[in-house]
Amino acid sequence: MRSFADSDGDGLGDIGGLRRELPYLADLGVDALWITPWYPSPMADGGYDVSDYCDIDARFGTLADADALIADAHGLGLRVVIDLVANHTSSEHPWFTAALAAAPGSPERDRYFFRDGRSGGEEPPNDWISAFGGSAWTRVSEPDGRPGQWYLHLFAPEQPDLDWDQSAVREAFDAVLRFWLDRGVDGLRVDAAPAMAKQPGLPDAGHVPGARFESRTWVGNPHWDVDGVHDILRRWRAIGDGYDGDRLFVTEAVVRDPERLSRYVRPDEMHTSFNFDYLTAPWEPRRLRTVIDESIAALDRVGAPPTWVLSSHDETRHVTRFGRADSSAATMGFDTGRPPADLDLGLRRARAAALLTLALPGSAYLYQGEELGLPEVEDLPDEALQDPTWERSGHTARGRDGCRVPLPWSGDTTPFGFTTEGIAPWLPQPTSWAALTVAAQGADPASTLSLYRAALRLRRSVPALHAEPLSWVSSDDDVLAFDRGPAFRCVVNLSDRSIDLGGQDRVLLASGPCSGSLPPDTAAWLSSPGEE
Ligand code: GLC
Ligand code: MG
Repeated sequence: MRSFADSDGDGLGDIGGLRRELPYLADLGVDALWITPWYPSPMADGGYDVSDYCDIDARFGTLADADALIADAHGLGLRVVIDLVANHTSSEHPWFTAALAAAPGSPERDRYFFRDGRSGGEEPPNDWISAFGGSAWTRVSEPDGRPGQWYLHLFAPEQPDLDWDQSAVREAFDAVLRFWLDRGVDGLRVDAAPAMAKQPGLPDAGHVPGARFESRTWVGNPHWDVDGVHDILRRWRAIGDGYDGDRLFVTEAVVRDPERLSRYVRPDEMHTSFNFDYLTAPWEPRRLRTVIDESIAALDRVGAPPTWVLSSHDETRHVTRFGRADSSAATMGFDTGRPPADLDLGLRRARAAALLTLALPGSAYLYQGEELGLPEVEDLPDEALQDPTWERSGHTARGRDGCRVPLPWSGDTTPFGFTTEGIAPWLPQPTSWAALTVAAQGADPASTLSLYRAALRLRRSVPALHAEPLSWVSSDDDVLAFDRGPAFRCVVNLSDRSIDLGGQDRVLLASGPCSGSLPPDTAAWLSSPGEE
């Protein structure tokens, strides 16, 4: 929302800007849009700190604007998915300010996790850590001014965790869901789902000092992926199922493996889930193939479709990631200190990865700007950084601002049509983005934007891409080749030599120059299988 398009000249994207550019999204060929949190928020974490779940932040617009956006989107055949941030509220939510004003042990405090500290109150109640660095506990001053209890925040201190064992919390969120479903949103993206249940008694997790929030490595962790979370998801699914139309739940769940992930998409839970194994996989044929196979197999067991994603508002943009020798991803902006990327190589691979991703069975999520081939902005000045990761890590991790720089739409200089001429966007845009604007790429058939448009169009029109399962074709180890039924093949060349495609005439689309043979780091869609 903040980085897409600005309509009122304050340098911050808003609903008006999004409405204006809906035709761009429809023309790009997507089916739905997911909007990051648009609720009133102090913006300590980009809106993931919500102070009122049933309104729109004035900087983004009004509830009437939201209604108009939903109506316009539906008019263009686009579905609207909004973000549901329920693990925590903002520290400025009235529930939390009431909890601070109330006494220890009072019902106001029960909605959150307030506990006495250890060592006479001086030390946090346990060893849990925050995703943004440091302890997950902050000590409060009691109303009488004395140092008092501690409260839990698995993210920033401005994001106190709710206690989902409290029926008052569950019931309040039932109403939030209904509020938005009644307004016509088509789906909810459930933020930080694995955080929502905690092991009773809040036992130590065994984190060593300085440990990172690496939830994909944790087994039996008391504050992440605790089974109680599934009760909450079932409750929500039942609410969604009570509505007409297809209402979708997609969950963010960064958990250990595809099997744990599959639990979030059992038939009475979420419909789909983001695929972090794929999002963090390096540009490496064996790993990609394993992730693809394991994702499909694990989700198939519970009857859920796989999903695929290459970038997000939390990760280094994949043009940059794929341009590095180590092209795996570190989550939440902890990517600092990696060597500079070869962006030509990264873009070549990113374009190939787009064709790989869009040829896989299931649904694909695009992160705004990837269709323009935007790289991560790695040289934002320190004073421009806004992500809490920067402060919380003691200025050792630069955080996620580099993937959130506002989109370049047109023109030769900043703000590139994102906001009113002469106004600074909320994060500075690199001058080199003049060549990457929507206007500059729209007319160029070889541009990344044209590639995405063509791929999304074919994805709609080629029946095999909806119906047929994936079957691997035997190939060299460093080539990924698979069929979707007898009439469609995708070939991705991760080797360092060109490979023969057996003629140019069957090439429907290629991610780079390709004349019957496929260069390294290039992918092609073919209209029917060639010779083995
Ligand atoms: C999710 C969001 C991220 C946010 C965090 C806390 O991971 O994607 O942007 O900071 O949750 O709400
Ligand atoms: Mg604005």
